[in-house]
Amino acid sequence: MKNPGLSRRSFFAASAALSGGALLSAKAVQANAASTAPSVLYGPPVGAAKLNANENPYGPSPAALKAMMEATQSGAYYVRESAQMLRDAIAERHGLSRDHVMLSSGSSGVLTYLALAATQQGSILGPDLFWDTTALMGARNSEFGIKRLPKRPDLAIDLAAMEQALDDDVSLVHITNPNNPTGSALEASALRAFCAKASNKAMVLVDEAYNELTDNPEQSTMIPLVKEGRDVAVARTFSKIYGLAGMRVGYLIAKPELLEEVGQYGLGDYGLNQAGVAGALASYTDEVFTQYSRKKIVEARDMVSDALKQNGLSALPSQTNFMFVDLGEGDAEKFRAAMEKRNVYIRGIYRDYTNWSRVSMGKIADVQMYIDALPAALEEIV
Ligand SMILES: Cc1ncc(COP(=O)(O)O)c(C=O)c1O
Repeated sequence: MKNPGLSRRSFFAASAALSGGALLSAKAVQANAASTAPSVLYGPPVGAAKLNANENPYGPSPAALKAMMEATQSGAYYVRESAQMLRDAIAERHGLSRDHVMLSSGSSGVLTYLALAATQQGSILGPDLFWDTTALMGARNSEFGIKRLPKRPDLAIDLAAMEQALDDDVSLVHITNPNNPTGSALEASALRAFCAKASNKAMVLVDEAYNELTDNPEQSTMIPLVKEGRDVAVARTFSKIYGLAGMRVGYLIAKPELLEEVGQYGLGDYGLNQAGVAGALASYTDEVFTQYSRKKIVEARDMVSDALKQNGLSALPSQTNFMFVDLGEGDAEKFRAAMEKRNVYIRGIYRDYTNWSRVSMGKIADVQMYIDALPAALEEIV
């Protein structure tokens, strides 16, 4: 039975009006971004530059806002057809069928389900530093843990070392590309060769949360390996380039047998909400918005790079909406606190990476606040 609040026809009518999204000029997107200052209740503190969670504050796009408002009118009903439509749209873009796509509340959902499924059978192999929140969840609920590669001075992911460490105890290889918190991307052909080989021994997960921000998203994705039928799973999210972090939609692309197994640890469509799915659907084809966001993020990265240079610092090369700054002798937690005093919110220390500080690319004015606060905050931590 169709959801009477959201029939296929009415949804298409709505999205046709919205793909006015595609007709909206960059100027309109910009005007909208300026006019949708988040309220105190839901957004960052007034006057603060929130640069600590890799969000895209230019979102949601105008098309997403419109679709989400409409969808909340059907908020009395569980999500039905719209989720199927979103799965279809994602599958179609990659030449796959809808049973290759699992949706969840943010990509944290599917990543957690996969970690829980994998750690029934073995450990998770990852680099020393990666976005490990969901791997930790798997490890916490199992007798198997996370097996980390040794720390490297350049913080890169060493695929050769990973291949060597891939023994029979490992059930899942977890790669984040580009990586968080480093922002660095692996060379696509090297990663492809690694995944093809490693997936003969264990399931390989590539978390591509920031793929759409890379220099060449289509070339750097590992989704074609799924199409080849390999034991590779790719996670993506609407939280980053699409500016929908608070609306919670992400997905996993993998072969249907694997998704069926992973699904045993998940909530299925009960993990979704009407507004989030509607926002994701409207954003997915909104090239004007994503291009605008990408342009602003690159502009912000250039500004931060210049400012760091002027202050005698540097960051790792980033293909994401954040940068990992080497503070030299400086302590990243003290730096975070010094920045907070100046109303600039950034990440504190990651484990024993004491001199590394992550900053997200917010709106240009927020990034300017970071730059303006930089000299005095650095002075304070010496
Ligand atoms: C690499 C990576 N994967 C996944 C996530 C989870 O994001 P979400 O659950 O909002 O999709 C994040 C969040 O910052 C991330 O950095």
